[in-house]
Amino acid sequence: MSQYPERITIYEVGPRDGLQNEKSIVPTADKVRYVDLLTSAGLPAIEATSFVSPKAIPQLADAPHVMAGISHGANTRYPVLVPNDRGMVRAVEAGVREVAVFTAASESFTKANINTTIRQSLDNFESVVALALANGIAVRGYVSTAFGCPYEGYVAPPSVLEVTRALLDIGVSEVSIGDTIGVGTPAEVESVFGLLLKSIPAGRLAAHFHDTRGTALANVLAAMQLGITTIDSSSGGLGGCPYAPGAAGNLATEDLLYMLDGMNIETGVDLAKVAEASIYILGVLGKQPTSKYLQAYITKKGMSAA
Ligand code: HMG
Ligand code: MG
Repeated sequence: MSQYPERITIYEVGPRDGLQNEKSIVPTADKVRYVDLLTSAGLPAIEATSFVSPKAIPQLADAPHVMAGISHGANTRYPVLVPNDRGMVRAVEAGVREVAVFTAASESFTKANINTTIRQSLDNFESVVALALANGIAVRGYVSTAFGCPYEGYVAPPSVLEVTRALLDIGVSEVSIGDTIGVGTPAEVESVFGLLLKSIPAGRLAAHFHDTRGTALANVLAAMQLGITTIDSSSGGLGGCPYAPGAAGNLATEDLLYMLDGMNIETGVDLAKVAEASIYILGVLGKQPTSKYLQAYITKKGMSAA
């Protein structure tokens, strides 16, 4: 196993990427309990909510209340998405310590998701990042559609590099490379990350795979072989993006953890406690998990998530 990192940072996106995609609006108290359960699992980063337009994502309109309600674990960071200056000001008012700005490698998705062009999004982020850094707030960046776009299809790796570089140039500390619609395979992970890693250190990149076509874990292995040590995942496998038709299901945190635990790769995260958090939120949503690990866990215990 020497070609794999000894330690991986799991960046949990369930409360944000998961809940933004649900038809029902989860009560704030249940979101708070869900995040608290994830905190008790030892996750180092939990993307807790989004300070986006409530017209775009009504599911997360209660972002300030979620941030005020959660218990802040000493070893956990609670980043939130912000799309613009308005979101950044709201995040500062809510006492957020870490934010993420987000754009994409394809124009049509960027237009559908944040109603602007890639260039304009990057220009807009300059003031967002400046405000964050002036308040001592760390900033992550996302590049969506890095492996394919729901509207345009193929996305060339140099487009991903261009947007990633631009985000780093305006001051983000880490860029998460998103397979928004889960079309990538390990060969494409090698092409995209291989190109990025020619000029960007692995420590400034993260991998964000959706598991729409069942390739997410294989893609994680390929990314780890290239030296990537931060992997995004969503408890229970919740997730998607309302502006990416068919983007069901992020890589499940349980499936990722089961694999990493079995490979003796350290994460500091307790798998059974993540499962407990997922079963809680799936019960609220009345849904069964897409996580394979969680399906087996529930069957073994004779439980029901919904
Ligand atoms: P817009 O309509 O072009 O902009 O939206 P606007 O400035 O005209 O704003 C529209 C309304 O929203 C206005 O209200 C604003 O005040 C309000 P009105 O005057 O009509 O009453 N507004 C806000 N309210 C609260 N907080 C704000 C905010 N901004 C505007 N921050 C905008 C442009 C970017 C705001 C909108 O399109 C938006 O919020 N988009 C977010 C979409 C989103 O969250 N998508 C999912 C996350 S990305 C993702 O899932 C991918 C990822 O997981 C990685 C991957 O998988 O690849 C990260
Ligand atoms: Mg996503």
